[in-house]
Order: sequence, then C-alpha cells, then structure tokens
Amino acid sequence: MPDSRTINDARAAFQSCTSLDPEERVQYYNSWAENYEKDHSLVDFRAPHLAVGFLSEYFSGNPEEVLVLDVACGSGWVAKLMVNLGFKNFVGVDGSEGMLKEAAKTGLYQDLKLAVLGPEPLPAQARTFDVVIIVGALDAGFVPVSAIRELCHAAKPGGLICMVRGNHTGRPAGEYKKVLETELKLMKEESLWSPVDTRQTIFVRSHRELLRAASLHPSASITASSRSSESPSHRADRHSSISGRMKASSPGSAPVFR
Ligand SMILES: C[S@@+](CC[C@H](N)C(=O)[O-])C[C@H]1O[C@@H](n2cnc3c(N)ncnc32)[C@H](O)[C@@H]1O
Repeated sequence: MPDSRTINDARAAFQSCTSLDPEERVQYYNSWAENYEKDHSLVDFRAPHLAVGFLSEYFSGNPEEVLVLDVACGSGWVAKLMVNLGFKNFVGVDGSEGMLKEAAKTGLYQDLKLAVLGPEPLPAQARTFDVVIIVGALDAGFVPVSAIRELCHAAKPGGLICMVRGNHTGRPAGEYKKVLETELKLMKEESLWSPVDTRQTIFVRSHRELLRAASLHPSASITASSRSSESPSHRADRHSSISGRMKASSPGSAPVFR
C-alpha cells in the first residue's frame, strides 16, 4: 500500500537500487514504480522541482506550442510540474515498463517509448523537440554519457536541453561525472551546443533552506541531488543542473555528431 510507506521503507528502497547495469537498474524500477513518487517525496527529492524552476528561467516562447522530450521520464513527475508552466505536448522515454505505466496514468504524454538507453538508441526523431529534459538519470548504471549526443540530436536547432543530476558519491559516480564533463566540453568545442548555465544547489534538510546557489560555470548549467547516508537532520542535498541550447545550424544542414 503506497500510503503506508515510511521513511525507512524509502531508505531501504534507495539502498537496494545499486546495480551498475542499466538493464538491471530498470528492472529494479519496475518493482519500485508504484512507490516511486511516495518514496522520493519522503526523502525530499528536489530534482524535478529544480529542473522545472531552471527551465522556467531559460525557456522563452509559447510553452503551449512546443514539443518536449522527457528522457528517463519515470512516473511523469517532471511533466506534471511542467504543465504548471503551460507546457502540454510531451513525449516520454524510459527503460522501465512499470515506470511508463505510471507515466501513462498522468494522461499527459502523447507518446511513451520503452528503451534502455545505452544498450538501445534513443527512440526519437532528429531535430524534432523544442525542449529535451532529463532529470535524475545521469549517473553510473543509469543513462550512459554516450546517450547525451542523442539528446542533442533529438533537439531542434536552437532547442533547449536541460539536464539535472544528483551529486552522487562513490567511485563510479565520480568517474561518470568526469566523463560527462569531458563530453559536454567536447560538444561545446564541436559547436554542437552552447551551454547556457551550470548551477549547483545545496539544501540542508534540517533547515529546509537554500544555503547556496552558485554558478559553477558562467555559460553552462547542471543540477544534482544526493541521497547520502548522512542522518536526515544533517543531510545536505546537492542538486546540480546543466542546460544548453542546440546551436542553430544553417537551414537544412544537420548538426555533426561523432
Ligand atoms: C530517479 S528516476 C527519475 C525519473 C524522473 N525523471 C523524475 O525526475 O522523477 C530514474 C529513471 O531513469 C530510468 N532509467 C534508468 N536508466 C535508464 C536507461 N539506461 N535508459 C532509460 N531509462 C533509464 C529509470 O527507469 C527511472 O524511471
């Protein structure tokens, strides 16, 4: 019964979600789907809220008219928040059938696609989406860094790409972060995208107040959240977000991808 979940149930679920294999990870999400939002609310998961707040700062245009690709959409939490900003056209992709079933219940997605990114390509047409957003799925064992170019490929030239990730700890997470930063830098050098803003936000849960919202890089943006083993009274949640725009390429020319 989702409503009887406690913080201890939530912690146990997070602690069990450790596989570094994307296929195993999405299997785990199948079993977690029903309790996903409840458990994440219990641990005060901030990433969807930060992502949407971040997006609202950088999106210009009529949200009703644009098409959004929600990558690793999970239960549809991000789309549910984006609706409050006026967005209404969503396509979702996730590797977990259980999570997609939850997303379908929102009634917000015009299409939901099952794909384990990494082993499978991103099922999205090139140069189609005005906004591409990925929240809470950029870490070791989730969506591999190799898929980031595919996100750019799916965005229209000039489209906005927003990535939000947790400041996960441990060696695989550290390695993932390094590879991600290298890839984003490379993509900038290749003029594949131009970073808009990078930000790291730290919350201390005991005070429930934003301690710091610092710009890490003048021209790019990142969001992250940690689910550390620190005690709840002292736990710091770090959220970092990155967003960038697809470079407007000359009419008819496709962006170059490696
Ligand atoms: C922490 S949840 C985030 C869900 C949603 N974006 C949100 O903010 O609530 C991570 C999601 O990523 C999905 N996922 C993890 N690895 C994936 C992969 N390689 N390909 C596609 N989806 C993946 C999981 O199934 C899960 O729904």
